Amino acid sequence: MSEFPKDFLWGAATAAYQVEGGHDADGKGPSIWDVYSHLPGTTYEGTNGDVAADHYHRYKEDVALMAEMGLKSYRFSISWPRILPKGRGEINEAGIKFYNDLIGELLKYDIKPMVTLYHWDLPQALQDDFGGWDSREIIDAFDNYARLCFSRFGDRVTLWSTFNEPIIFLGLGYITAKHPPGLKDPTRAIQACHHMFLSHARAVRSFRQLGVKGQIGLVNVMQPNDPLTQSPGDLAACALAEGVYTHWFFDPVLKGTYPADLLARTQESLKAPVFAPGDEELLRDNICDFVGINYYKRGMIEANPDENSYEINTSGKKGSAVGVAFKGLFKVVKNPNGNFTDWDWEIYPDGLTASLMRITKRYGNIPIYITENGIGTKDPLENGEIRDQPRIDYLRAHVKAIAEAISSGANVRGYYHWSFIDLLSWLNGYQKQYGFVYVDYKNGLTRKKKLSFSWYRKVVATNGAIL
Ligand code: BG6
Repeated sequence: MSEFPKDFLWGAATAAYQVEGGHDADGKGPSIWDVYSHLPGTTYEGTNGDVAADHYHRYKEDVALMAEMGLKSYRFSISWPRILPKGRGEINEAGIKFYNDLIGELLKYDIKPMVTLYHWDLPQALQDDFGGWDSREIIDAFDNYARLCFSRFGDRVTLWSTFNEPIIFLGLGYITAKHPPGLKDPTRAIQACHHMFLSHARAVRSFRQLGVKGQIGLVNVMQPNDPLTQSPGDLAACALAEGVYTHWFFDPVLKGTYPADLLARTQESLKAPVFAPGDEELLRDNICDFVGINYYKRGMIEANPDENSYEINTSGKKGSAVGVAFKGLFKVVKNPNGNFTDWDWEIYPDGLTASLMRITKRYGNIPIYITENGIGTKDPLENGEIRDQPRIDYLRAHVKAIAEAISSGANVRGYYHWSFIDLLSWLNGYQKQYGFVYVDYKNGLTRKKKLSFSWYRKVVATNGAIL
């Protein structure tokens, strides 16, 4: 017996910069990641996405593998500078053609495309012209880009999301200086975040004005937070972390307003976000259709009287994580009883059930897609095989956790494993692997199916019943 609805979308995901390569092929412009990853000391051992898995040139082979697996849906992102090399103005028809070809290939096998408009690769030209997310000019630029995508692909793509994980690209870009533009400025982070919400709302409005037939949503990383102890300090810190990670990022797109208490506190302490006339109405009138959740781990939270700390484990040496801490607010600490990956991410399937139920409780019967979930491991090629049993164990436990949430009333419509194929991990290089398909970087990027490939194929074929 399967808990999953009949038309449940079993899928897998990737993102343009991490998988495509072809960084300057056929008229593509540079993105902020093309530039940033080439600056010394920014990524693990200087890795970048110049070639990545070369999906740009090998998409047919990759889609054939998806079809062999029986995937119902594939989530990928569009590279903004591939179709608009300067972010606005002149259109690169070769870039449009690539996505048309990819969509066509997917539909040939009855694989439903789910498109992400922004998975972090802002055109560098927009960063140079007006400071990217810092400026309100981004709202028009994003809306025009979104309209272009809706008009060129909207006749065949029915599932869209505007942004992938705003907390990550804005938090790491503007607070911890680990992503471009590499700043440590919380006030600018909050204002940039406001521009992101307004860009999202404008794109939702355009989607409806243009009459695109389908649904549009936003994807957040979901980190359910739990207090380390029951002390009043830890409980308060945990409530704050939950507000920051979850309510701040879901409320504006699902309720049309920021959480009032947190907004007042942020405006008081950081003098941001600053609203312009019309902003409130724009958010209020453009609630989106679904939410995407990326789930990897939970957060164990402690009060933090100490200094800021932004050091994370990017080496894959277990135990080397320092952890993230925000002075006077909260600290994300290691669960002393937890089970961790080599990158110190806690493996905690119950957190996925908890996340889905927290979303359902706060936002009602909103359709939810798990847009990412997976485990980063070092998958050795041994005797020509990749026996990635830890991935199968991780997946089995997490898919069961979803079934549990569905039977408790969560409206989950699909599950996208991260990732379909091995690809670049932004700060962790190619040694942190997530795919069902191995890419042999030492051997001409040849593809090889891992053990998890056949396991997931059975999950899809039985609609989750083999669990
Ligand atoms: C999510 C992103 O944050 O997690 C992906 O949407 C990313 O792009 C994935 O690759 C895993 O994170 P990491 O840092 O292990 O690559």
